[in-house]
Amino acid sequence: MTWSTRGTIRIRRRGQRLEAWAPAKLNLFLEVLAKRPDGYHELETLMVPVTLFDTLELEEDPTGRIEFSSQVVPGLQAAGTSTAVLPEGAENLVVRAIRLLRQRSGTSSGAVVRLTKRIPIAAGLAGGSSDAAAALAAARRLWRLPRSDALLHELAAELGSDVPFFLGGGSAVCRGRGERIEPASSGAPLHVVIVSPPAGLATAEVFRHCRPAEAAHRVVPLAQALARGDVVEVGRRLFNRLQAPAEQLSGWVGRLRNEFDRLDLPGHQMSGSGTSYFGLCRHAAQARRVAGWLRARGIGKVYAAQTAAGCW
Ligand code: C5P
Repeated sequence: MTWSTRGTIRIRRRGQRLEAWAPAKLNLFLEVLAKRPDGYHELETLMVPVTLFDTLELEEDPTGRIEFSSQVVPGLQAAGTSTAVLPEGAENLVVRAIRLLRQRSGTSSGAVVRLTKRIPIAAGLAGGSSDAAAALAAARRLWRLPRSDALLHELAAELGSDVPFFLGGGSAVCRGRGERIEPASSGAPLHVVIVSPPAGLATAEVFRHCRPAEAAHRVVPLAQALARGDVVEVGRRLFNRLQAPAEQLSGWVGRLRNEFDRLDLPGHQMSGSGTSYFGLCRHAAQARRVAGWLRARGIGKVYAAQTAAGCW
């Protein structure tokens, strides 16, 4: 079985089909610098892919049809909030990605696409963005299009702020809207426990409640600690400017902070615009133990995972 990797996305052929694995991400650092004329915020963020995956299966359709279906693993969509519903059909970022690539590459081929969703939705883990990056990378291969990084990257940036990250090489500092990517080296894999509570938040809403920094935190000390593999220092340097506004909007975020405060971990914080929350652990055994303890607390879906370097 041969895998090819496109940034953080892994793709393999299974008979007529391609299977793509799309990882979640965590933000170890996220500073909101200023609001731009286009309404977006200038960011400085350090993101790491983690071993929690959605999968996409694609089969070529020579008639040019694009057909999409999805299944959500049991228990994932328990939230009952409108933000936590997986968009279907043309609204789904996977369909938008495939349509965009077909249009801009000029191919007349189509695809039958099936998405299996394991990454919590509207949770700050960028599952939808990762799915879109996987769709671009896999459809490019399915349709035997030229390996043009420039086109994929351009389409990724159009689809969403987090999409280009997943086509990059793994852990990265992302600036601008998120599309300017600088690889970050990682001295050792980080072991984490992620909790996604039953209610999510809409990214735009969290940004609306965020006041950009007057004195900005800088990512460099955390990036250096990550490069050294110094988990204690990484834990001390975790930062997310969006956490305070998210705590105002959802009681879950403060509740998770309190739960993690009771544990002896190097650090913990919310990921992205929430509401998922993660704790940094010293090693895999601690991550498994903490995950077991948190599962018994009944505060949402709990995952023990580790960072993924980009090719694993
Ligand atoms: O680009 P994406 O669809 O991920 O962003 C969702 C929303 O989050 C945007 O419409 C915007 O309101 C907000 N956002 C922002 N600045 C960013 C990224 C997102 O204000 N850098």
